[in-house]
Amino acid sequence: MTDPFKNILLGLKDIIENQYLAEGHLKIKDIASNELEVAIKGNEWSEINHFSSPLAKPFFDVMTKEDAISICADILKVPFAWVPPKTSDDPLYTAHSHSKVHIELLGPQGIIKSKFVRLGLYGILPNSEYGIRTHPAEELFIMLAGQAEWLRGGGKYELKRVGEYSYHPSGMRHATKTTHSAFMSVYIWSGDVSTDKYQYLGLPTQ
Ligand SMILES: [Fe+2]
Repeated sequence: MTDPFKNILLGLKDIIENQYLAEGHLKIKDIASNELEVAIKGNEWSEINHFSSPLAKPFFDVMTKEDAISICADILKVPFAWVPPKTSDDPLYTAHSHSKVHIELLGPQGIIKSKFVRLGLYGILPNSEYGIRTHPAEELFIMLAGQAEWLRGGGKYELKRVGEYSYHPSGMRHATKTTHSAFMSVYIWSGDVSTDKYQYLGLPTQ
């Protein structure tokens, strides 16, 4: 019997390894790929079947569209507990997080424990804005379904569609917003994956 969770790990490894980055080859891809390899061989993820919180319809809609990456079909088969992330205790962060869902697959709080990465699935509902933040971890988002606008450093928002990515070196300010469409993505943190120095600065003024 095929295991959709294992297919997700295998699929993410493939997506990450084959993602072309305009920056050139980055170690974050190798670290994520290695940790996924360890997780796949470890084969320990029975706990995910004990709880679930389904995805809202706008996520389902983009993840079942023709252009969505095929891994979305496996993601929809697993009874994950989709909830907003709790990366920060800042009340503004919490207030701006209601439209977000995430699952930490690998990481210190992940379904599979890792000290070296946080790697998971992350999406935002339509017509939402998640403002500027910084953190010590280096970060890569790859879009799996839908679309979103990403702001990097001092730049302007840029639209990212399925198969495109947003890369944030350690400490780079970044922000995200959606319009008519939700999105689902895979995110990777590597380097200093602690959340102690995570800072949420609120919505950009532009
Ligand atoms: Fe980030």
